[in-house]
Amino acid sequence: MSEQYYEEVGAYYDKDAVDFERRYWQNDALQRIRQSFREHVRQHEFSCMLEVGFGPGFDLTHFAQTHPQSEVYGVDISAEMVRIAQGKIDEGTLANAHVAQGSVEDIESRFSEVRYDMIYVFFGALNTVDDLGLAMKELEKLLLPGGRMVLTFVNKWYVGGMVIELLKGKPKWAFARLKKVWGGYSPTQFLASKCYTTGEVKRSTTLSCVDQRGYSILFPAWYYHKIHKLLPRKVRMLLWHWDHSLSRTTVGTLGEYMLYEFRK
Ligand SMILES: C[S@@+](CC[C@H](N)C(=O)[O-])C[C@H]1O[C@@H](n2cnc3c(N)ncnc32)[C@H](O)[C@@H]1O
Repeated sequence: MSEQYYEEVGAYYDKDAVDFERRYWQNDALQRIRQSFREHVRQHEFSCMLEVGFGPGFDLTHFAQTHPQSEVYGVDISAEMVRIAQGKIDEGTLANAHVAQGSVEDIESRFSEVRYDMIYVFFGALNTVDDLGLAMKELEKLLLPGGRMVLTFVNKWYVGGMVIELLKGKPKWAFARLKKVWGGYSPTQFLASKCYTTGEVKRSTTLSCVDQRGYSILFPAWYYHKIHKLLPRKVRMLLWHWDHSLSRTTVGTLGEYMLYEFRK
């Protein structure tokens, strides 16, 4: 495992933590997508769940509250994100929520002998692991037989974004995700990440993929603020509904974001 790489990722998110929540609450697209991710998790019964990369703890504290009979564990590489999430856990006196600093490779040592029937990753932590195959192997090991993983990824082939960037005259941005290393969303702060195709994600594990869906196929990606503002609400709603219809088709694999559900 590359310690230096994880130090860099942790330092990036330590800085990002300051503004993370404010940005989120101002972004309708991110809120809609998160609700959809949560619905996928909620479809299943679970008694012991794990979140990798919980950030400020939106979902970890949410599930700890909605499922008081379940234990909810989480790891995050950023010390600052852990501090913020722990603050929420303490404030809500959520005795069933447990967080620790670390990456996928550290879970076993942070929560020894705990096994999970639901593992989820929302918004990107698996795009910043040292080796996706090894990370998936680790998660597979921690998942109980019959358990589910709901994993979401920044997608490699975001065709709508390519078209938009080309129309803006920015070919470098249009094809940035196809490179071996993607610099992340920020034009000013570099975060060494990897974007994956549907095939690459499925080949990274021996578990069977039982569901998949794409997001922001026609509905503009969350960071196209100006386009969101320009589009009337009715048009945005229409695009969101078209996306929903396309999300499980081949066209769905060309969205900005992907969700995969695996079963052991
Ligand atoms: C884009 S944020 C998403 C946070 C949260 N899941 C959410 O939906 O709001 C990604 C989070 O994953 C964490 N992260 C990134 N790479 C990680 C890794 N390899 N292991 C654990 N956490 C990681 C970051 O520190 C950050 O908090």
